[in-house]
Amino acid sequence: MLAAWWFRLCLQVNQGPFGSELSLTLQVQKHLEPFRLSLEKLQDVSARLRKDMIRGLGKHSHHRASVKMLPTFVRATPDGTEKGDFLALDLGGTNFRVLHVRVLEEEQRVLKMDSQICAIPQDIMLGTGEKLFDHIAACLAEFLDSQKLRGQTLPLGFTFSFPCEQKEIDKSILIRWTKGFNCSGVEGEDVVNLLKEAIHRRGDYDISSVAMVNDTVGTMMSCGYRDQSCEIGMIIGTGTNACYMEEMKNVKRVEGEDGRMCINTEWGGFGDDGCLKDVLTEFDEEVDKTSINPGVHTFEKMISGMYLGEIVRLVLLKLTEEKLLFRGCPSEALLTPGSFETRFISEIEEPDSGLENAKKILTKLDLDWDLVDACVARLVCDTVSSRSARLCAAALATIVNRIRINRGLDHLKTTVGVDGTVYRKHPNFSDELQAAVRLLAPKCDVTFLISEDGSGKGAAMVTAVAQRLALQSLCV
Ligand code: GLC
Repeated sequence: MLAAWWFRLCLQVNQGPFGSELSLTLQVQKHLEPFRLSLEKLQDVSARLRKDMIRGLGKHSHHRASVKMLPTFVRATPDGTEKGDFLALDLGGTNFRVLHVRVLEEEQRVLKMDSQICAIPQDIMLGTGEKLFDHIAACLAEFLDSQKLRGQTLPLGFTFSFPCEQKEIDKSILIRWTKGFNCSGVEGEDVVNLLKEAIHRRGDYDISSVAMVNDTVGTMMSCGYRDQSCEIGMIIGTGTNACYMEEMKNVKRVEGEDGRMCINTEWGGFGDDGCLKDVLTEFDEEVDKTSINPGVHTFEKMISGMYLGEIVRLVLLKLTEEKLLFRGCPSEALLTPGSFETRFISEIEEPDSGLENAKKILTKLDLDWDLVDACVARLVCDTVSSRSARLCAAALATIVNRIRINRGLDHLKTTVGVDGTVYRKHPNFSDELQAAVRLLAPKCDVTFLISEDGSGKGAAMVTAVAQRLALQSLCV
């Protein structure tokens, strides 16, 4: 859509359709072509993900699977009767949060009583695990004091948004770091233990039960309290991932055939076995090569906020080298990795102020631009973010189609709880994603519910549901 608009604008600012701008349009389009994924291609990507999901669920095949399909031990979504006060910890991006959450049964509402944000400085993100957990324990102590909660033993939900092999709701082994974290001595260890050890090292307070949750699960659970047909959680922020309720009989790695269990797909790892080679562009390969975890989380690197800006920068640089932008002169800033922030994409794509924003951003990046350059930059942003939305749609369609077939339904009506800055902040990402899901899952009627503070409140919800189930089993 934007391509046609840009072409028209080129015709307005310049002499005519057969001059140099037409040839420029065609050359720019040639470089952007690999980002444009047809419906057939997306269906094909979805079919590949379906196979990988089955491999991830299998008892003997899961260790080879790039889509990990991790059992979460969350066996039920909220039924609206949960209640009580909880503490929640939320670690998964550049900030760490501590929350005091109250679940009100009468109003079916989850209230955030208070919360505190602690920054995680780069040296802690890349330092030792001991330092990281000492930092977390210190933030929690500060919060308990400020809330006068020290001495109370509230149940604690810990949203830890990294791939973990969960053994039980309170035993969770980190498989690997993602999203720029790389603390030593944590991979292969039980995160609950590391937290408890850090609290014991301090010796000035204690915690009771801990429930471990991925942010996707928190998002699903917090939306599930409002809409009980919410059985999928999706994040499109710094990273991307989704979870959903799978039939226990298909979860071969966990004993039992009855009921359902929430599976954390870790779809970010899709493609790590090379199955997306034909979809990757030279720019994706460059982003992967220069990341702190090359070869890992291939799908995430095409989609999420941590990488989209860098993809755009590399495309702009390539077009400059080809003398299609900025008169062939890149600035120091454009040559610097990370200088094109992902939020610039949203700003540049704003329907009304986008072109003005593009001009400001290009000036900030010290580029010698003209109007056509600004339009090309807008087109690049649109192309990269559209691909991200359509790839996400293909992955989400795989899940809703699977739930429908699992249940033997002709038609499925379901709700997805969603969170993440890319989904929330980008002006047309959600529309584009939803439109593509309708095409890729025509027999499913999918409602999207934005989660308010999902990872924090959701952790409390998981803890509350676990308590409800434990109580129910005592009463049987
Ligand atoms: C990364 C993590 C995953 C998380 C996602 C969104 O992909 O591996 O656990 O859910 O980011 O935060």
